[in-house]
Amino acid sequence: MPTDISGNPSIDLLGKQITELLAHPNIGHGLARTLRAAAKEIEVGRYHRATQRAFPNGPDEQPTKVQIGGGSHQLDGFFNIDLVPPADFLWDVREGIPLETGTVELLFTEHFLEHIDYPRSAKGFAREAFRVLSPGGQIITGVPDAAHVLSRYPAAPVEAEEMIGRWYAKRTCREDINTYLDLINYVFRDQDDDPSYTPHLWAYDAEKLSQLFTEAGFTTIEPWTFDAILANPKREWASVYVIATK
Ligand SMILES: C[S@@+](CC[C@H](N)C(=O)[O-])C[C@H]1O[C@@H](n2cnc3c(N)ncnc32)[C@H](O)[C@@H]1O
Repeated sequence: MPTDISGNPSIDLLGKQITELLAHPNIGHGLARTLRAAAKEIEVGRYHRATQRAFPNGPDEQPTKVQIGGGSHQLDGFFNIDLVPPADFLWDVREGIPLETGTVELLFTEHFLEHIDYPRSAKGFAREAFRVLSPGGQIITGVPDAAHVLSRYPAAPVEAEEMIGRWYAKRTCREDINTYLDLINYVFRDQDDDPSYTPHLWAYDAEKLSQLFTEAGFTTIEPWTFDAILANPKREWASVYVIATK
């Protein structure tokens, strides 16, 4: 089976067929949910396949500082890799990190890891990070801190309100957060049925991050002190960051 399916017209055809099916009034909620997820993968995969075609041997440059999953929070002086624009290189890192072995000095990711499936993609990502880093190279990883959310259960209304205000005040799900457990569910899954959001697929705390990077071969894993020069300031509250050294 070919590993490169870029340009395969059957993917576009499938996308078209799914769009047609989704327009059908009697499709049924369960099938529609699944097809919406497939349609989204086809849509975001378009960028990945276009990059594969344009850069079959990976990027032209060999960057030493790389951000993955930065979204609109692009970092100057870094090579920004993301599934979708704006980024320097549009790539799905579930398929690997498109960089040479042992070439990167610093990798930065925040609020990205929880969006890829566990264990296949998350453990694969940690192994790939280890591969592309040079000896002594480091990866900084920040995620929503599941321990923060769970340690407050059952939460006082004032704490729940603070979390809702910071994370969900402008979201369409606001009226469906009716108890603190609903809030925990949103933190763990996000709005998985809303095409405007990418769901959370796994939850992390400091212990899990440390285990993940230790298993991938990193020698030291330490807490990383939040620094808004690199990190997105809006991530400071209730996130956990670690720095792992190869
Ligand atoms: C919640 S946003 C976080 C953006 C930014 N790091 C921040 O903290 O504001 C998650 C980002 O990860 C990217 N992402 C998710 N899955 C990815 C994948 N498989 N490969 C590359 N980027 C991915 C998304 O496109 C999105 O930009």
